[in-house]
Amino acid sequence: MKNVALITLLMATTLLYACGGSESENREVSLESGNLILAASHGDEGSAWTLPDCAACHAMEVIHAEAEGVRTIVRDKGYTTCTGCHGRNGSSESEPRRCGVCHNSHDLPQAPQLQGQHAHTFTVGDAAAADDAQCLHCHVASDMDGSFELNRDLTGYPDATQIVSRYGSVSDFCLRCHNRDHQQVGFEITSSRFDNPLIAIEDAFHFVDQHGLIDGSGSRIYAGLREGYQYQTAVSCTDCHAMHGTDNAKLIIDNSLKGVARLDASIREAPHNVTVSGGDYSQLCVLCHQMSVLLDDGHLDTGNGLAGVHEVGSDCRVCHTHGEAVQAGL
Ligand code: HEC
Ligand code: HEC
Ligand code: HEC
Ligand code: HEC
Ligand code: HEC
Ligand code: HEC
Ligand code: HEC
Ligand code: HEC
Repeated sequence: MKNVALITLLMATTLLYACGGSESENREVSLESGNLILAASHGDEGSAWTLPDCAACHAMEVIHAEAEGVRTIVRDKGYTTCTGCHGRNGSSESEPRRCGVCHNSHDLPQAPQLQGQHAHTFTVGDAAAADDAQCLHCHVASDMDGSFELNRDLTGYPDATQIVSRYGSVSDFCLRCHNRDHQQVGFEITSSRFDNPLIAIEDAFHFVDQHGLIDGSGSRIYAGLREGYQYQTAVSCTDCHAMHGTDNAKLIIDNSLKGVARLDASIREAPHNVTVSGGDYSQLCVLCHQMSVLLDDGHLDTGNGLAGVHEVGSDCRVCHTHGEAVQAGL
């Protein structure tokens, strides 16, 4: 009995080795293509599709010979992780797709930065961490290769014409949901206020906001930008808003490391905190803005070590909010 079992095991292993090696060019799942999600062709002409027990056929020692970036952590965390990267193999009985098992402040503390009271949990004002299902709403088929690619690592949602067109920027992605008239099924946003940025931001981004597609003049009295940013270029939503964790309301970043992606590393990586109180956003604005001719409060430390904006300590929202067209705007 024992011998028969051993021989079967050896044969199975040899088979997996052989297929894994010689057919690697034809595999659907590969780092090269960026696709990790299993399809109906899984196994020998689809024989493994819908089977939930990955361990039955895939020995941990054999897999991921060419996927150095994930081999160790997958071995460490075990078979409950398989579906996270490879999908559920067409079976409702297979493991749920888990993310937090690896993406937590212990195992992958930088990817992403999760600390903070608020995350994008699809509920305004929520004070909870994002759960696995919420990660998936935004990253349904990531390739986990350590570099972030817009059209691989973000879920493709249809645009206003109902076509899943490619994203040109992270902001494109946000606007597929944050708009008035072409929201996504399951993510409806209703607001009693016509000008609420939750639904008005698409209009503001295209036609009003200086940080959006409308160009700033660059010639105002408090003009001046820090290294990394220029006038006449759009600023990304995630330069100012953190998706994964922040202590500030409205998902405003609480630290330069969580946004301001283009800011010169010597300033961004210092790093500088951002605390917001009573509508005083000066610690956010000052990360990128530094007036070249010192006027008004231009010399005043905003409280995070940086100076260079006016009206420090006051409520900026009177004149600077999304969709504000009359004052200097946002
Ligand atoms: C009945 C056996 C069997 C089961 C159960 C099974 N697989 Fe497979 N799987 C195979 C075979 C055979 C191949 C093709 C040989 C190879 O590439 O290793 C394969 C290939 C794969 C591939 C590469 C596929 C490709 O198209 O490039 C992945 C990824 C994979 N399996 C993951 C899983 C996961 C995750 C599970 C559990 C949900 C699972 N398998 C369950 C037999 C199985
Ligand atoms: C963190 C993401 C991740 C997780 C989790 C993961 N894999 Fe993979 N897997 C990959 C990547 C990336 C590749 C492509 C490697 C390549 O291009 O050779 C891959 C390829 C494979 C392949 C085909 C090629 C090979 O290396 O054998 C199989 C089979 C496979 N995985 C099975 C599994 C099983 C079973 C589990 C659960 C124990 C699992 N994977 C968990 C990322 C993952
Ligand atoms: C509302 C959408 C959204 C949700 C929910 C979300 N993310 Fe993200 N994630 C993004 C965007 C957008 C980026 C690109 C970040 C940027 O441009 O700064 C990103 C980037 C990342 C990155 C790579 C960049 C980095 O910070 O290292 C990882 C890893 C990541 N997300 C994992 C997760 C995990 C895990 C979850 C669940 C806890 C999650 N995300 C939830 C939208 C989201
Ligand atoms: C077995 C561990 C593991 C699991 C489970 C896992 N990831 Fe990852 N993920 C990684 C690793 C490792 C990286 C690469 C991190 C790096 O080098 O910066 C990564 C990277 C990412 C990135 C950044 C983009 C990229 O391609 O590197 C995103 C987004 C991401 N994961 C989302 C998810 C989501 C969503 C889930 C759940 C469905 C998930 N991950 C499950 C290990 C895992
Ligand atoms: C799949 C749809 C979807 C995507 C994509 C999406 N959001 Fe949201 N977002 C929502 C929903 C739904 C809410 C909650 C609305 C409510 O509760 O009325 C929300 C809420 C918010 C809030 C308010 C949070 C609070 O607590 O005040 C901000 C800010 C936000 N999103 C910014 C973004 C940014 C920036 C992006 C892109 C990186 C993005 N969203 C991508 C659907 C989405
Ligand atoms: C991530 C960097 C960044 C942050 C943070 C930032 N800005 Fe800006 N800001 C820019 C850039 C870049 C431009 C130029 C955009 C353009 O010309 O298209 C700009 C333009 C402006 C303009 C228009 C200037 C003109 O010449 O017309 C105003 C007003 C402004 N920002 C105010 C603010 C306020 C108020 C805050 C804080 C709530 C803030 N900004 C935060 C980068 C930033
Ligand atoms: C220059 C920084 C900056 C950029 C870029 C930016 N925002 Fe904002 N956003 C803010 C500030 C500051 C507020 C809060 C204003 C207030 O308190 O009324 C805000 C508020 C919001 C709100 C309202 C949240 C709530 O709960 O009331 C939403 C939604 C939002 N932004 C989405 C976006 C989206 C989507 C993008 C990209 C298209 C974007 N923002 C780009 C700074 C920014
Ligand atoms: C009473 C209205 C008002 C308030 C309150 C206000 N601002 Fe302004 N802000 C303006 C106007 C108007 C301009 C443009 C001046 C010009 O056109 O030359 C401006 C310009 C700016 C600019 C320069 C953008 C550029 O690149 O030219 C920044 C940065 C800025 N404000 C930040 C802030 C911050 C931070 C606060 C709150 C702490 C704030 N403002 C409060 C009206 C206001």
